Amino acid sequence: MRRLALAPLLFLTLGGFAWAQNFLPKPSQWSPIMDAPAKPIFTARLVADPAFPQTETFIRRRLGSVESGPSTIRLIKADKHGDFEFGPEGYAIINEPGKDLIIKAATEAGAFYAFYTLNDLSYQGSDSQLYARPGLLLDRPRFAWRGVMLDEGRHFLGKTEVKRLLHLMSLYKLNVLHWHLTEDQGWRVEIKQYPKLTEVGSRRDASPVMGDRKKSDGKPYVGFYTQEDLKEIVALAATYHITVVPEIDMPGHSSAAIAAYPELGNTDVPGFAPKVATSWGVKTYTLAPKEETFRFIDDVLAELCPIFPGAYFHIGGDEAPKEQWKKSPFAQQVMAREKLKDEHELQAYFVGRLEKLLAARGKKLIGWDEIQEGGLAKTATMMVWRDWKWAQLAAERGNPIVMSPTSHTYFDYGQGKRPDDPRFDMIGGNLTVEKVYAFEPIPPKFNPEQRKLVLGCQAQLWSEYIYNGAKLEYMAFPRLCALAEVAWSDPKDRSWPEFQGRLAKNLEGLKGLKVNYCRPDGTPAVTDKVGRGE
Ligand code: ACM
Repeated sequence: MRRLALAPLLFLTLGGFAWAQNFLPKPSQWSPIMDAPAKPIFTARLVADPAFPQTETFIRRRLGSVESGPSTIRLIKADKHGDFEFGPEGYAIINEPGKDLIIKAATEAGAFYAFYTLNDLSYQGSDSQLYARPGLLLDRPRFAWRGVMLDEGRHFLGKTEVKRLLHLMSLYKLNVLHWHLTEDQGWRVEIKQYPKLTEVGSRRDASPVMGDRKKSDGKPYVGFYTQEDLKEIVALAATYHITVVPEIDMPGHSSAAIAAYPELGNTDVPGFAPKVATSWGVKTYTLAPKEETFRFIDDVLAELCPIFPGAYFHIGGDEAPKEQWKKSPFAQQVMAREKLKDEHELQAYFVGRLEKLLAARGKKLIGWDEIQEGGLAKTATMMVWRDWKWAQLAAERGNPIVMSPTSHTYFDYGQGKRPDDPRFDMIGGNLTVEKVYAFEPIPPKFNPEQRKLVLGCQAQLWSEYIYNGAKLEYMAFPRLCALAEVAWSDPKDRSWPEFQGRLAKNLEGLKGLKVNYCRPDGTPAVTDKVGRGE
């Protein structure tokens, strides 16, 4: 008979450290039973309702199975506990003295989160056993979209780093990886019908040197994911209940695609000579509004949509300069034909065509907030990153919104303190963990109907200066801990002083996992090898 030892689960996920009640994100309700003895869960028997095959497999794959033990954890399917409705991601943990430890959830995601929270309820006794504190815990997220955007266009981090990021996201119940896969500086996904996208588009001749974006390092840079790699990442994400939303940025940020297939660009503009970009910043190359371009996009979608099972597909849409369209006789003809009054309306036309292509493949369009300039279809979801006025406009039109503003969610910005070292190069701006924690994703002027349009929020990890996993973790943590709580917990339960205490304990756990988080003095926790090639 094999024993189900929960300790390895807890150690595996949180790095050899039991975080007794250092909940992150903070649960909706926790009522401890103070004077009752805690329950040993080091060797607990798991009895799972057959409604939870995925959670059971996940737990058993890590721990082995068990038929008997000194205590029992029962995983039960239920929609609510008392009046507390679980919804699609909530759960209850009921740990009463002398009774089995009960976990209730309506879905696999809820059950999965409950096991992660069980860790926060546990502590290691002097006998090295793990004990779960008695009490009642009820929990569900405030927002359905709790995301992280990872840009691999500027720097390609590779599967190992993405898998590690997924694991770290799961610890904080973050559930969307928005994967920015194409840029002026690189196309990072294999498309079988268009091999030059990776043969040409995934390579650039040089990058800016660290510490001076105006100087070139003269070194070739390359990287892309095969479709098998994408499937592997998506499958792992699913085990963590994380949805991967791919982004193919269009019609701007497309220099790499146009370098690979120049016919996709505005070939009729003077000086047309596309190249994969070797510097940062917004580039002029945009996709041309040709039927050939829309066929290309549909072919790309045909290969990618089946790999990413989530409801959404991100089409970018940000920072698409209009100068090539202004100079292109062909683009001007399309505008005349479609009776479009300016190039913003041409972008709206472009986005409208993409929306139809996606709808035919069963996907919902999501894009950066520029996609509403020039008009926008009702079904599109807006990722608001610039001024909050774009959220107001989207809400007035009835479009769903994911709040991703530079003011609180751009984790490529500095963190308030930084070592005087060019390797710690960052985009300008300043975003402290305290400011992230103060983020309220629902804009203040929203009425009750408009509030419902806010699906959630996400952190942005733009990678001009994220050269490797060490830098990624340095930029992500601990700000991601703060954002996770903003996305999950009720604002009335949030308290910065209390969070700081819980965060300090969490950082000890992250240290156990060798996460290179930014310490309060601005230095990295594990390694300062955060530069390219290190
Ligand atoms: C963006 O920062 N260009 C969305």
